[in-house]
Amino acid sequence: MALSITTLAALAVAVLVVYKGIIYPVFKSPLSKIPNVHWSVPLSPVWMLWKRFSSQNNRTIQAAHESLGPIVRLGPSEISINCVDGGIKSVYTGGFEKHDWYPRVFGSFGTVSMFTMTGSKAHSTRKRMLSNIYSKSTLQTSPHLRVVSNAVIFGRLLPILHEAATSNQQVDVHDLNQGLTMDFVSSYLFGLQNGTNHLQDHSFRKNWLHLYLCRKPYEFYHQEVPHLSGWMKCLGIRLIPKYCDDANAMLDAWALDLCDKAEQSLTSTEPGVEPVVYKQLRQSLDKHSSKETGSKPDRAQQRLDIACEMYDHLTAGYETSAVGLTYLLWELSKHPEVQRKLQKELLTLQPPISYSASTELPPPKSIDSLSLLEAIVTETLRLHAPIPGIQPRVTPYPSCTLAGYDDIPPNTRVNAQAYSLHRNPDVFPAPESWQPKRWLVDENSPVDLEERRRWFWAFGSGGRMCVGSNLALQGMDVEKKLPSFGVAMVLMVKTEMKLAVAAIYTNFRTTIVDDENVEATDAYTVKPRGDKLILKFELVGAGRE
Ligand code: HEM
Ligand SMILES: *[C@@H]1O[C@H](CO)[C@@H](O)[C@H](O)[C@H]1NC(C)=O
Ligand SMILES: *[C@@H]1O[C@H](CO)[C@@H](O)[C@H](O)[C@H]1NC(C)=O
Repeated sequence: MALSITTLAALAVAVLVVYKGIIYPVFKSPLSKIPNVHWSVPLSPVWMLWKRFSSQNNRTIQAAHESLGPIVRLGPSEISINCVDGGIKSVYTGGFEKHDWYPRVFGSFGTVSMFTMTGSKAHSTRKRMLSNIYSKSTLQTSPHLRVVSNAVIFGRLLPILHEAATSNQQVDVHDLNQGLTMDFVSSYLFGLQNGTNHLQDHSFRKNWLHLYLCRKPYEFYHQEVPHLSGWMKCLGIRLIPKYCDDANAMLDAWALDLCDKAEQSLTSTEPGVEPVVYKQLRQSLDKHSSKETGSKPDRAQQRLDIACEMYDHLTAGYETSAVGLTYLLWELSKHPEVQRKLQKELLTLQPPISYSASTELPPPKSIDSLSLLEAIVTETLRLHAPIPGIQPRVTPYPSCTLAGYDDIPPNTRVNAQAYSLHRNPDVFPAPESWQPKRWLVDENSPVDLEERRRWFWAFGSGGRMCVGSNLALQGMDVEKKLPSFGVAMVLMVKTEMKLAVAAIYTNFRTTIVDDENVEATDAYTVKPRGDKLILKFELVGAGRE
């Protein structure tokens, strides 16, 4: 008798395990109706983990959507979507919360930033604090940004390129772009005086880039198996080498140092000295804490919170726009006819950004309204999205409907990736070819253009998108959903990218010397595999006068 009760209990447990582990996920779960990327995915995440470990995330998901349609299952509790209606519109514009993936991968200083916060409430509080400083009107009229732009373009970038052109030296533009974008963003955050000068300080830049990039090959562990490296460490095995920890410590110290220097200039309002973004956050956090608790803010914690936020803007801002610029210069170097047309358009600026004849940039608005330049930037960000990888969110309670599939359970990880959205051949015919004219108002029907804008996802969409209100680029519905925020990281990016491109092609012609391994890595934020792009610069028109 006793034996048979034990047997029965064991049998019941076995049945339960089989049901929970096999029958339910494979046959019963609402997710079971969604096409699988591999037969094993309802049962285990291992197959997809392996693909990600071996840097095949992008191609696996892309191939799955090509053959199985706009929604696929990647794991027991993970799906991928690749459509606008019932896809990114529901998930991202619909405000599904971010997955833990973000704080895990990008957390710093033991705290979280606007980018890494998962909860909507904390996020919108932070976003409100920063919205004004990145708003379209602030950026376009900012005397600070003007001082920064003039100094970086006329004082640093153009002289370096002019020197290279006249002495016939080749230029590694990817290296240079990484200095340019860091100087640009850090100077807006902290003031020109206390920002970086990576463009001119080549050895510092080299060292910094080494620290930043050496950690990349180990991203997988934080992203997908966050506990594994801790467990292995207990067994005495290091999955992530010690030099990554050292690099993290040095980068943290670097960011804290920039913040501490900015703190010294807090009272200044002088363009070029005032630490614009730093100050805004610092003062908003003060106000917030006195409103919430009525007490003095905890300075030590506040210092880390600010450093974490600033570190994110620095890295988000530098890395993405540098990669975008590199691919833009690459495409233009491959398309001399587009270069010539662009140069013609740039010479309409008043005054033109001539290295030899000007010292003041034309108004940002006039650069922003050049249509070919806009089309070139947009097409480059489509074909070479700097963040082509997955942007994980979690499905809400109690359930949701995606791409026609009902009852999707809460807490399912759901991702979309710009790489795939940008390669829908119905929206972007011949998706692999770089064609700025897809975006020109005169050469396309309004319906086609609108559809392309809906599918353009280089900056994400919804409340967590890089930026808010850039009507020129983003769909109207996104626009309405968003308050003023985020506003204009995108605007800033575009201002910065456009400005750099305008300054370069007003004065120079570029041709490729060495583009070996320029193809992107398979990651969340990408970079050229070879970490370089070597171009030759020759003076033209306005540069030669
Ligand atoms: C070409 C340049 C850029 C591209 C392609 C880009 C792309 C993106 C994307 C796709 C997201 C959403 C990420 C996600 O949800 O997984 C994002 C968010 C963000 N980006 Fe950018 N970005 C660029 C430049 C910048 C710059 C210059 C800054 C800052 C100065 C910046 C700061 C941020 C911040 C703070 C967020 C988080 C917003 C939030 O969660 O509310 N980005 N960016
Ligand atoms: C992404 O996937 C596509 C399609 O499979 C592939 O052609 C491309 O090389 C991949 N890109 C990267 C960076 O892996
Ligand atoms: C920061 O800027 C202030 C104001 O221009 C300047 O006096 C100071 O030397 C700068 N600090 C550093 C470390 O460059």
